[in-house]
Amino acid sequence: MSKSDRKTRSAEWFGLDGKDGFNHRSWMKNQGLPQHLFDGRPVIGICNTWSELTPCNAHFRIIAERVKRGVYEMGGFPLEFPVMSLGETLMRPSTMMFRNLVSMDVEESIRANPIDGVVLLVGCDKTTPALLMGAASCDLPTITISGGPMLNGRFRGETIGSGTHVWKFDTMVRSGEMSMQDFMDAEACMSRSVGHCMTMGTASTMASMVEALGMGLPSNAAIPAADSRRMALAHMAGRRAVEMVREDLRMSKILTRPNFENAIKVNGAIGGSTNAVVHLLALAGRVGVDLSLDDWDRLGHDVPCLVNLMPSGEFLMEDFYYAGGLPAVIREIGDLIDKDALTVNGRTLWDNSKDAVCYNREVIHTLDKPFKPQGGIVVLRGNLAPSGAILKPSAATPALMQHRGRAVVFEDIDHYKARIDDPDLDIDETCVMVLKNCGPKGYPGFAEVGNMGLPTKLLRNGVTDMVCISDARMSGTAYGTVVLHVAPEAAAGGTLALVQDGDAIELDVAGRRLHLDVSEAELERRRAAWQPRHESYERGWARLYTEHVTQADTGCDLDFLVGGSGAYVPKESH
Ligand code: FES
Repeated sequence: MSKSDRKTRSAEWFGLDGKDGFNHRSWMKNQGLPQHLFDGRPVIGICNTWSELTPCNAHFRIIAERVKRGVYEMGGFPLEFPVMSLGETLMRPSTMMFRNLVSMDVEESIRANPIDGVVLLVGCDKTTPALLMGAASCDLPTITISGGPMLNGRFRGETIGSGTHVWKFDTMVRSGEMSMQDFMDAEACMSRSVGHCMTMGTASTMASMVEALGMGLPSNAAIPAADSRRMALAHMAGRRAVEMVREDLRMSKILTRPNFENAIKVNGAIGGSTNAVVHLLALAGRVGVDLSLDDWDRLGHDVPCLVNLMPSGEFLMEDFYYAGGLPAVIREIGDLIDKDALTVNGRTLWDNSKDAVCYNREVIHTLDKPFKPQGGIVVLRGNLAPSGAILKPSAATPALMQHRGRAVVFEDIDHYKARIDDPDLDIDETCVMVLKNCGPKGYPGFAEVGNMGLPTKLLRNGVTDMVCISDARMSGTAYGTVVLHVAPEAAAGGTLALVQDGDAIELDVAGRRLHLDVSEAELERRRAAWQPRHESYERGWARLYTEHVTQADTGCDLDFLVGGSGAYVPKESH
């Protein structure tokens, strides 16, 4: 039997005789679907995160239609289905709290239904890892299509970037350099087309990770959402999904260790978001690849940042696409990557990239003359972060990467908000701001509040950066000398919970050290007196989440979701 003659999984539903086959086909026919579509051809599930509450994904119905064209063209049968969507700018307390919930939705939706192959439609930050994780636990042939970044923001002649200019303008308003009216006028100028954040924030980083992992077609990362070539890519993804089913090219054949290692290196080369760390760790856990936090430092830290994009640089994703996009970056770091890593189009990552051309060396630099010498992530350890913490050097201030300072402690985000602009707050630019209880359990949901705004009184004195340490994450569009993802988090009783105002903290990025200069005896005394500060939840997702979420160093998946269950379900519903 040739691969293409293999009986499809969906034939276990649509190919049945008797009442079960009748049930499965008859109700589907109420959509006007003719009989020949049930003849055993590959059924391609289009997993759609469209929602008007997720503005970055609000154009996904059009993308889904283009995917369907490709599926039909290749003799497949497309069926679109919704899953919960995660809109970064609206959801409370944080979209990260729901990433694993969506992954469960995706996993169970795929497994329970007559689907042979899957197209994942992803865009806003958490939608990408959530869909990849859920699909990975089913392990069907799967291809990902990202929705694409927005066009460049333009405000009064200046190019402005999603998120990055929000932080910048907010600081300018607080320091008196910008009026509130100008601040409000900038809103529509920043988000002026369909698509996700167009800085190298988390969404663009994760779209790049999709391409670097081999889970998307070449150029998936950068084609703007409003560019007609994004629609053509969706069409081609639909075509390819059908072929992947016929080739039985499952996710587990693509998501191998070399693919993850390539992705970590590409993250360094693009100066990607720190959020990619937790998402790739969690995804690796779903497919049984033994990836660790230290792999990020070992493999990615020394990779130079080639891409001059905000928040670390000056350009945006639209410029990146016109300059050659991710294939041009991969070609540049060709000697660093595993050239045999397979991708969804059946070719290797290197085959897809080796002839790529760079059209603008201001945007994509060469390996010999990189934009920044190091683009990756450093992993810090010490008594303040025994399980690790991370810092992104390309977004930090070099002079602060070796620093000893007096701690100014915020017990949680409300304490920070109440205290940061208190004129009596005893703080200067040499202090270390410490924020607790913003980790996976503590917030709950591991919020992006690690890039704390500086006290207004220091901003007015011209201070632009200070060392900040927290168990929180940071928006991929943000910057600063920010130590993030401290593990164990304060709410789990980590040493972070024991830091007090006035303690001395040492940050030594070169030595990979984060040290709280307090005696072990004193720490023991504080530990004995420590009381958890975070809420406990009686019911619903918040309870399941807080009881089972793992720490940042292992990816914040739920402990019982690690791994996969395949796609086989033996029992009928009637
Ligand atoms: Fe959706 Fe940034 S808010 S990608």
